[in-house]
Amino acid sequence: MRIGLIGYKFMGRAHSNAWKKAPLFFNLPSTPVLKAVCGRNEEQVKKFAQQWGWETYETNWRIMVERPDIDIIDIAVPQNLHYEIAIAAAKAGKHIFCEKPMAMDSSQAEEMLRVCEENGVRHYLNHNYRRVPAIALAKRIIEEGKVGQIYHWRCAYQQDWITDPSFPLSWQLQKEVAKAGPQWDLNSHCVDLALHLIGDISSVSAMMKSFVTERPIAQESGSGNLKAEASGQGMAKVTVEDAALMHVRFKNGAIGSFEATRFANGRKNRFTFEIYGSQGSITFDLERMNELQVYDHMDESGYKGFKTVLATEENHPYVGNWWPAGHIIGYEHTFVHAVSDFVKAIHDQLPIEPNFETGKTVIQILEAGLQSASEKREIEV
Ligand SMILES: NC(=O)c1ccc[n+]([C@@H]2O[C@H](COP(=O)([O-])OP(=O)(O)OC[C@H]3O[C@@H](n4cnc5c(N)ncnc54)[C@H](O)[C@@H]3O)[C@@H](O)[C@H]2O)c1
Repeated sequence: MRIGLIGYKFMGRAHSNAWKKAPLFFNLPSTPVLKAVCGRNEEQVKKFAQQWGWETYETNWRIMVERPDIDIIDIAVPQNLHYEIAIAAAKAGKHIFCEKPMAMDSSQAEEMLRVCEENGVRHYLNHNYRRVPAIALAKRIIEEGKVGQIYHWRCAYQQDWITDPSFPLSWQLQKEVAKAGPQWDLNSHCVDLALHLIGDISSVSAMMKSFVTERPIAQESGSGNLKAEASGQGMAKVTVEDAALMHVRFKNGAIGSFEATRFANGRKNRFTFEIYGSQGSITFDLERMNELQVYDHMDESGYKGFKTVLATEENHPYVGNWWPAGHIIGYEHTFVHAVSDFVKAIHDQLPIEPNFETGKTVIQILEAGLQSASEKREIEV
């Protein structure tokens, strides 16, 4: 399976690492070949290709998607480009591995799904947290009925990378590239997991908040991971929210809350969720991603309490392919799990989740959140 990667910064690095590592640790039916990487700056993309072992490079993604020696297009660029690239790739008969959030709105998402189905190509949307072993274990525990009827989903995704008002206007802060702020970027992960772990959502009410409404223009445009020192001359308007709060009703009767912010000073990439049910409860914290806190309401009186399960046993999802129990894994491993499952799904012609169908639903819920915040009312999904 010959891969063509578009974008070579944060996600480009995470994906390159995953394509390389997957066949070393997972028993894959087919070995990914790092065929070509694409970026607009020739000098930089050439350097990246050499460093990461990509055979060739391109500077125009349209040429890349048409190349006959490529089977899979890996989309690791900002979300304003996902639609155009995915449609072109599907029409060229390429399978698609796409970063989240899927698209800029639900009509784009719907069309991406339709064109992929029409052209018979596989589509995977990289909500990679589903493939954190502890989260996959949470799913198993819920399916085994150990949580019982779920009452509550409580989720927070907190970062602090833009609390400095002199941090420049990166693409993530511009509506025409990012669509929205943490509602799109962070809550897309959270909504995907809520759908996966709890079930379908029927209605949404939300509020959004901007704390810093103008920022310095960045010296060089286009890339994320900027530092405050990258500020250039002049100021421009921030066109996305800094924080998003959302409440939802699930179709199965549970209720849920989502808190997503880039203004939680001290929190770098803290993603937590809590699930409370009739038989038990589960909590997770990405900063301790190998652990799950599990409470069994059926435990003997006097011995009840949350216990820490270290999700590194051989019979826990994914981790048996890595190291002996207790030898923990990290963020980058979730991408290796994703590409491994993707390669197997293509080879066995089986569906993989999350995909563009899931992504479409996630986008509809996020969109309902934006509408709810602007109209100040609960929105049926
Ligand atoms: N799964 C996750 O946890 C996760 C984490 C971070 C980002 N993301 C998503 O991944 C995507 C990329 O984010 P990132 O953090 O890697 O951004 P980034 O700014 O670090 O990298 C973006 C890349 O896209 C390239 N690019 C932009 N326009 C291009 C064009 N027209 N043609 C070719 N290349 C182009 C840039 O040069 C750069 O290489 C976004 O959709 C983001 O939401 C997902």
